[in-house]
Amino acid sequence: MVLFALREPRRGGSADPRGGCRGPHRLFVTPAIERVILDMTRRYGDAWARMGETDLRAYTGLLILAGVQVPVRGRGQMLRFNVRVTRAARRATDKLAAIRQVWDMWTERLQYLYEPGPEVTVDEQLVPFRALHLTPCCYMEVRRRRKVELSAEVGESPELCDGKGGDLPLLQVSCCGMPSGSLRKTMRSQAACRAWIKILLEAGRECWIFLVINIINMIISIALIWAVVVGLCCLLWLAVGIRRRQPGEPAVENGFIPYLGCALQFGANPLQFLRSRQKKYGHIFTCKIAGQYIHFLCDPFSYHSVIRQGRHLDWRKFHFATSVKVFGHDSFDPRHGHTTENLHQTFLKTLQGEALPSLIESMMGHLQDVMLKSDKLSPSKDHWDVDGIFAFCYKVMFESGYLTLFGKELGEDKIQAQQEAQKALVLNALENFKEFDKIFPALVAGLPIHVFKSAHSAREKLAKTMHAENLSKRENVSDLISMRMILNDSLSTFNDVSKSRTHVALLWASQANTLPATFWSLFYLIRSPDAMKAAREEVLKILEDSGLTVDPSNPTLNLTRDQLDNMPHHKKAMRLSSASMNVRVAKEDFLLHLDNQEAYRIRKDDVIALYPPMLHFDPDIYEDPYEFKFDRFLDEKGQEKVNFSRNGRRLRYFNMPFGSGVTKCPGRFFAVYEIKQFLTLVLSYFDMELLDPATQVPPLDQSRAGLGILQPTYDVDFRYKLRSTTC
Ligand code: HEM
Repeated sequence: MVLFALREPRRGGSADPRGGCRGPHRLFVTPAIERVILDMTRRYGDAWARMGETDLRAYTGLLILAGVQVPVRGRGQMLRFNVRVTRAARRATDKLAAIRQVWDMWTERLQYLYEPGPEVTVDEQLVPFRALHLTPCCYMEVRRRRKVELSAEVGESPELCDGKGGDLPLLQVSCCGMPSGSLRKTMRSQAACRAWIKILLEAGRECWIFLVINIINMIISIALIWAVVVGLCCLLWLAVGIRRRQPGEPAVENGFIPYLGCALQFGANPLQFLRSRQKKYGHIFTCKIAGQYIHFLCDPFSYHSVIRQGRHLDWRKFHFATSVKVFGHDSFDPRHGHTTENLHQTFLKTLQGEALPSLIESMMGHLQDVMLKSDKLSPSKDHWDVDGIFAFCYKVMFESGYLTLFGKELGEDKIQAQQEAQKALVLNALENFKEFDKIFPALVAGLPIHVFKSAHSAREKLAKTMHAENLSKRENVSDLISMRMILNDSLSTFNDVSKSRTHVALLWASQANTLPATFWSLFYLIRSPDAMKAAREEVLKILEDSGLTVDPSNPTLNLTRDQLDNMPHHKKAMRLSSASMNVRVAKEDFLLHLDNQEAYRIRKDDVIALYPPMLHFDPDIYEDPYEFKFDRFLDEKGQEKVNFSRNGRRLRYFNMPFGSGVTKCPGRFFAVYEIKQFLTLVLSYFDMELLDPATQVPPLDQSRAGLGILQPTYDVDFRYKLRSTTC
């Protein structure tokens, strides 16, 4: 291997053999060697002209270019390398006596020529390539020096070819073996030198191909290794990871993907998936979904056996674990020792019964403020405002609901600027809520929130606004939040961050379903003229009966619980969009008895799930189940209909947007009231129309299936203006 080390000379022309080499002559013949040769040659004073440094350098330059092994007649005989008179005696022991001193210095010098420069890695593995052997590193170096500039520089430099000395560019190329015979010949001229450098560059370019091939080879090797590993895992999974149905157990479907099981098929269209399995297996079957074996119970007459099954089924385990996973607070499960609060009782006390009137009153006031006094929504009698129904509902309901639960930082008498700051805070909270809510299904599925940077930061920003220090500055905070603050402080060992995250959980619970439910209620109302007419008549009648006046300049409408109860308009929209899954976990192995007298063995830690959309879209229960019919839930007397049957048998459960049994939503009464309040107010204050009367119902976003009310996949535009008539 020959190393051509052509380097930028150091300033001052160092004699260091590694750094001060000047051209091919200095490459091989150091000043010390040169001195010996010149001294010896001159000492004998032959008839030849006196040898000078320039002669010697030009001569060795030529030798190098010609290929060092080729002797040049004449001049070669003239050069002397040592003391001739003592040579015969030394020859006895040293075959190289004639050149010993120079030889030793030269062989030492040669070692330096193998030494790479600071930026080069020598790859000893040689790559055959076009009569030359280039290493990948050599190519990298050549490439790094910009080939155009390089060839120009080398071309202009006579150094490589004529040995006259001069500055050479930094170029370190390692090549293996001497150039072949033909190449050697071509190197005898300056043009040939340039050609050779070009070949190197070209070869370097083609080295990319080599690199790419190498990388592809590497990828294929890695893929093969992975294929083997995955194959082995699959075999292992087949051997131990899949469940085999035991006698007395429901039919089981493990799915094709380890761990995920049937998750992807279920997620794509849960209703279709469950219906197809129901057809195949009957009323109950087991599917593996995300590592969990879930028994889906599809017979509505058997629901009760799960809903009342307190002894064998645990509802807390799943709910508490999910909340911890999603919101990042410490566990609410008293068994884990972080709190002794009975959360369920807190919810019942602060969201139902006596707590409701103040919630309703507060909500009504905020709704009217937001709808009629806000800069963002400033409707007039003269022109239509255009907005998306979804966007409109989110703005109005979020702000009103937020202020109702978490209060206001300022009383009514505070200055305008502070009120604007307060509004900005709520709208900011809405943006953070949306950002976090987007990834909610992924968090429930078990992905860590740190994967979603912006959602994580949104959740933490929400938590910051709900820090006890900030909440204590607020007025009219709901009983729910005030009581939770007290219980957090007195019964839990939660730290401040954990405490504020529990409030974020409540914000989410109070908004995530209410907002899309409001959208669907308003959308179907505007889209169906009959529904709009009937609902408006109902509202106007109630207002008239109670002597209330609709006046947008003084929006002080208020409705009692009884009045709101007399408006049976909300549930129809929720039937079409609700997809909450009711889940319980088996505490132990037990027998689940179904309505048809069959019994199935359930294993400890398995999940039993009810999926209400199977009822909501059952054509045996609801005629034209996918159609919105505004009077579907009204009986002949115009009252809320509670009598639904299947195959002639009355159903106990037929509409379950709020869940069931002990886990039934504790905020359901308030949720229904706030949606009714919203509808009452928009019907009282506004005329509303779809921008495009032929608008189709937007499809449901199935990514949230199992988690509550589904959102539309896109928004629908509408226009609204203040109604001209008052009553
Ligand atoms: C249309 C609106 C709403 C719907 C459809 C809805 C639905 C649900 C559902 C399905 C559950 C879970 C039940 C289960 O796991 O079986 C739930 C839980 C809950 N909801 Fe609602 N909800 C709504 C509005 C509200 C509101 C406005 C609040 C509070 C102000 C609220 C507070 C809660 C709470 C605190 C829980 C957790 C209960 C627990 O784990 O013990 N919800 N909701």
